[in-house]
Amino acid sequence: MTEVPAKKKTIFSGIQPSGILTLGNYIGALRNWVSLQDSGEYDCIYCVVDLHALTVRQDPAALRRRCAETLALFIACGLDPEKNVMYCQSHVPAHSELSWLLGCFTYMGELQRMTQFKDKSQKHADNINAGLLTYPVLMAADILLYQSDLVPIGADQKQHLELARDIAIRMNNLYGGLFTVPDGYFGKAGTRVMSLVDPTRKMSKSDEPNSYIAILDKPEEIRRKFRRAVTDSDGEIRVDRENKPGVTNLLDILSAVTGEGAQQIADRLAGKGYGALKDEVAEAVIAELAPVQARYSEILADKAYLEGVMQSGAERASRIAAKTMRKVHKKLGLAPYKL
Ligand code: TYM
Repeated sequence: MTEVPAKKKTIFSGIQPSGILTLGNYIGALRNWVSLQDSGEYDCIYCVVDLHALTVRQDPAALRRRCAETLALFIACGLDPEKNVMYCQSHVPAHSELSWLLGCFTYMGELQRMTQFKDKSQKHADNINAGLLTYPVLMAADILLYQSDLVPIGADQKQHLELARDIAIRMNNLYGGLFTVPDGYFGKAGTRVMSLVDPTRKMSKSDEPNSYIAILDKPEEIRRKFRRAVTDSDGEIRVDRENKPGVTNLLDILSAVTGEGAQQIADRLAGKGYGALKDEVAEAVIAELAPVQARYSEILADKAYLEGVMQSGAERASRIAAKTMRKVHKKLGLAPYKL
């Protein structure tokens, strides 16, 4: 008797094309996506979430360009379009449709207490649109649409994932067996890379350029940004998240990139100045990003190849999504139809 191979677990994750991707996106997400792909244990779906980006005003031409650039960066980081499904969120309308349906099972109070909603409402006080509030519902739709088991994300997205789980459990209780309840996947190090200008805040692509290292920053720029990274005045290299967030962030970044423990690095560099630590982090990050940068321009130059990846990714994603949508329509009691 031939054995039927066990179905692989499904992984889903996404990144907004809302700016230049940063070292935070790389260490907190992209790098883990590559290692999950390489484990061979999962079917992976990686999405450029352009609809999410619209919650903040975008320049249309720049948004369009950044979708292709983000996909090129996925590939440059080592994600293989043959092994994974990679596409743009707006190319698979089922995301928006499921988002509406899930929204009818999500409470206002749940959305209003999301940290990201509060932060972004403060930052964009002139544009607190409904999309900003319902952002996590769309994110839940992204995840539940593919019956995802695992979602590799940085720590800042944990609260959104919890909400996706709550919605799935709530609807499963009402309708029985609708969605797989997803778990988060967080890397060992670097789940929260902090800003180089204000190390009490996360590194973000929408802040000022000196606060982040972009994956595509040139070596000189990376050295300059680390050299001017905010630390403190006591001069001691040690891990102390509370009192020394700047120094600890540099140790964490170095640890995430090299695999050496943050404490070990601190012991090894004890007695040296912050300059030594900054130089070491800069060189390690430059070496880590060099192969990505080298591949990136080549991939981006091949427009036809990128369009092909996007197109076939969207087709494959749509087929998987359609299965879930049929099930959801039926269970929720929407009238049957044939396309
Ligand atoms: P986004 O685009 O802000 O970030 C993409 C991924 O990078 C991680 N990340 C970080 N990790 C560590 N340190 C940082 N400073 C840092 N900054 C960003 C994020 O945690 C994320 O994993 N809402 C999501 C996008 C999204 C999504 C999804 C993710 C939409 N739908 C479904 C997973 C599943 C976001 O804004 O990520």
